[in-house]
Amino acid sequence: MNEKTLANLEARLRYYEDLRLGPFYRSRAAAPFAEGTHSPQAPIEGAANRSAGRETGAAAIPQRQAMVEPAEPVTISAQSLFEPVERVENDTLERIRGDIGECTRCKLHKSRSRIVFGDGNPRAELAFVGEGPGEEEDRQGLPFVGRAGKLLTQMIEAMGLERKQVYICNVVKCRPPSNRTPERDEMSTCGPFLERQLMVIQPKLIVCLGSVAAQALLATGEPMGRVRGKWFAWRGMKLLPTYHPAYLLRNPSAKGIVWEDLQKVMAELGLKPPRKTGRRTSE
Ligand code: URA
Repeated sequence: MNEKTLANLEARLRYYEDLRLGPFYRSRAAAPFAEGTHSPQAPIEGAANRSAGRETGAAAIPQRQAMVEPAEPVTISAQSLFEPVERVENDTLERIRGDIGECTRCKLHKSRSRIVFGDGNPRAELAFVGEGPGEEEDRQGLPFVGRAGKLLTQMIEAMGLERKQVYICNVVKCRPPSNRTPERDEMSTCGPFLERQLMVIQPKLIVCLGSVAAQALLATGEPMGRVRGKWFAWRGMKLLPTYHPAYLLRNPSAKGIVWEDLQKVMAELGLKPPRKTGRRTSE
């Protein structure tokens, strides 16, 4: 290896350390939802082919299946950024949607086309919570249907699940202008509806996608690097934050650690990890 390559490599590893990705490059765990990097046997194969745009950067090597503890203890109890909602007797998703109505409670209503309530199995054992709708979600009225959504679908399929088996929703139900981060007042206005949704569905596990969802539900200012991959107790459910799929589109190398997080979720749900696969040689 010449000096320049070595310097580049060192810089890259320092960058990974900054992102707290040490376990990724040291463990060399595969991210089977990394488009173009999974083996033909990986369950994501079909889904990856459906998606537009190729990504590179995730390790294409066998998964370290033994690394996942079957039941990691819940370590921290958390409150959400918004006040706990009063119990609504016999609450249902339909009733919550009705209560939201054609909402004008916060300024996000001014620029939205559609309220994006949530989608999926109302009895799901697993719920994913994102930040807020983007352009495509605002157009279709469904969560996670844009580029990040396609990646989320691949992640779900890599876990051996179908998208319709899980529930997907967001902290805010209206698209923030130019996809900016939702503001605190918007989150605390919309948050109680999210809380009611989760209380009605009562998933066994909640995965927070990205720091906005994690900070909203855990009421923490901790950066994602500190909370990701940890279990929290939230209103009697188990919650695990991980990186947002949009972050993975920008930083494909983080797919490895997200996959480690998802394997913890799989272990909790009793889902078997995909079969071990051989190292690809064509990268
Ligand atoms: N990002 C989110 O956080 N939610 C969506 O629904 C889409 C993109």
